Amino acid sequence: MNACIRAAVRAALDINMEIFGIQRGYAGLILGQMIPLDRRAVANIIHQGGTILGTARSEEFRTKEGRAKAIQQLKQAGIEGLVLIGGDGTFRGGTLLSEESNLPIIGIPGTIDNDVYGSDYTIGFDSAVNCALSAIDRIRDTAQSHERLFFIEVMGRHTGFIAVESGVAGGAEELFIPEIPMNIDQLAQGLKEDFARDKKSAIVVVAEGETPGHTFQIADEVRKKIDVESRVCVLGHVQRGGAPTARDRVLSSMLGVAAVRALADGKSNSMVGEIKGEISFTPLKDTWEKKKQISPFLKEIAELLCR
Ligand code: F6P
Repeated sequence: MNACIRAAVRAALDINMEIFGIQRGYAGLILGQMIPLDRRAVANIIHQGGTILGTARSEEFRTKEGRAKAIQQLKQAGIEGLVLIGGDGTFRGGTLLSEESNLPIIGIPGTIDNDVYGSDYTIGFDSAVNCALSAIDRIRDTAQSHERLFFIEVMGRHTGFIAVESGVAGGAEELFIPEIPMNIDQLAQGLKEDFARDKKSAIVVVAEGETPGHTFQIADEVRKKIDVESRVCVLGHVQRGGAPTARDRVLSSMLGVAAVRALADGKSNSMVGEIKGEISFTPLKDTWEKKKQISPFLKEIAELLCR
């Protein structure tokens, strides 16, 4: 997100537009926590994960009264347009804010989960996938040397985007994600077949799901059905930090510049994204009302290769 903030600031200054950063998301907006941003404020941040502005979930912003306070703060500060970086929660709020304030708003998709309709990739996804991949590669060393089965849980509460990409790239033996229906019997059967083919180890990449401990439960169930020593590794928030990949920095820079230019051109109520390598705009409402699917071909090859 820092690369995106940096790009937005520089694009704004380039056209003599004044730009402020809102700290701590909607929670900070309600309290009027804004700081002016200049070139120096965004120097030397492109390689840092997270966001220099901070972020927070805001229950108050879900209420009309909370949003009215936010609108009041924006008016008081003379803000004439808003760039929002976030996922579906941010854009649900942004849609209401736009309806209730008439303020021009452009969204930028930022979530490691990649589950935002209207962009092939979201900011942070590529870095998270590469983090998960590096963990899978490392764990494979132990799996192979100790002849074990590993269940590796990656992030993605409702979706398996990180799991499918890191699983295919890491040569996972099996995938357990919401988009590919599979029960424990099928998973255990697949693993039995893997070991019957003289494999000494196997890796199952699991999307975290909504219930904490989900992967431990899966591993316990599988243990009852196959006799192989196994371990569970939950990667968790490690995937959300650290230096972003080059791909993420470039995507963030493109979207940051495009968002500011879109506002200057009078565009509103849309999210800027990247589709097939090109900048595209999607109505803000569609980004959370419509569901983004894993590409059918990627799903097909995952089913073919991850077994
Ligand atoms: O929505 C992004 C995400 O990273 C999910 O993959 C994960 O389930 C969740 O956030 C974790 O949220 P928190 O940091 O609030 O525990």
